[in-house]
Amino acid sequence: MRVQGLGYIGVDATDFGAWRAFATDVLAMQIAERGADALALRMDDRCHRVLVQRSDHDGPGFFGFQTAGPEALRETVRQLEAVRVAVTPASEKELMLRGVEGMAWCRDPAGNRIEFFHGLAAGEGPFKAPRPHGGFRCGPLGMGHAVFHVQDIDAMSAFYRDTLGFRLTDYMVKPYRLMFLRANPRHHSVALLQSKLNGVHHVLFEVLALDDVGRAYDFAQERWRIGQTLGRHSNDWTLSFYAFCPAGFMMEYGWGGRTVDEATWTPREVTHGGSMWGHDRLWLDEERRRTANEVRRATILSGLGAPLQVTRGQFNEVE
Ligand SMILES: [Fe+2]
Repeated sequence: MRVQGLGYIGVDATDFGAWRAFATDVLAMQIAERGADALALRMDDRCHRVLVQRSDHDGPGFFGFQTAGPEALRETVRQLEAVRVAVTPASEKELMLRGVEGMAWCRDPAGNRIEFFHGLAAGEGPFKAPRPHGGFRCGPLGMGHAVFHVQDIDAMSAFYRDTLGFRLTDYMVKPYRLMFLRANPRHHSVALLQSKLNGVHHVLFEVLALDDVGRAYDFAQERWRIGQTLGRHSNDWTLSFYAFCPAGFMMEYGWGGRTVDEATWTPREVTHGGSMWGHDRLWLDEERRRTANEVRRATILSGLGAPLQVTRGQFNEVE
């Protein structure tokens, strides 16, 4: 049974004030109160997509992957246990906090807490952004994607692809190994970046209106740390920027990601770097940033480009 996509994430937080400001300023997500120890952020008609939980430290908490229903969840657990992964059923408190009907969790080989769920509850009333906003691209594509730093990319690939059924969309070998894995037509729901350490590289949220990327970029630059400047990816074609969230990892805010036709797609090697233009990697040290920008220069000179991926109702055709 296949995992359907990324359904929610959780973050550990010491400072709810910072999260309220980041969610409002940068993400333009709706804040739903969950008592003294949790804060929920909505992106669509579901009760939340980001769950901020009070902790004595800041960092990633968990990644929730959607399954089709109770039987699909049981099947996922069976598959994990068949390869000797320890799976823990959710407590009543965890089910309530996440607003799901069923959940079980485990650690992936890099130590990330991965949850499998079904039945994420609807929120109270329609989604209402804290500023004029065209909404997020979720639905059957899930809420976005998560990219992990991983020490052992082969063990992580076996976990996500062989055990959980993710498909390889494309990959990079040089200058580092990177795998993009999909669970639905979204180009990737998970990506694995060979690294010296295990951790979260970034999480992507995709908006329906291009202008919302620019608006968020303006607010992000006023008072938040930018990780990568505005740019466009060469493989999933997303136009985006990255800002550091209060949990210490980056959040990518993007528009216009391509989708994959399962019937015709074949995995391919990405040989021209991560971005067609922009995305100056401010989070890197000077030397690696310079190398990244040399790759980008070569990509620009190669003329690499791609058509815009515009959702219905968001464009006029002009002469
Ligand atoms: Fe991304």
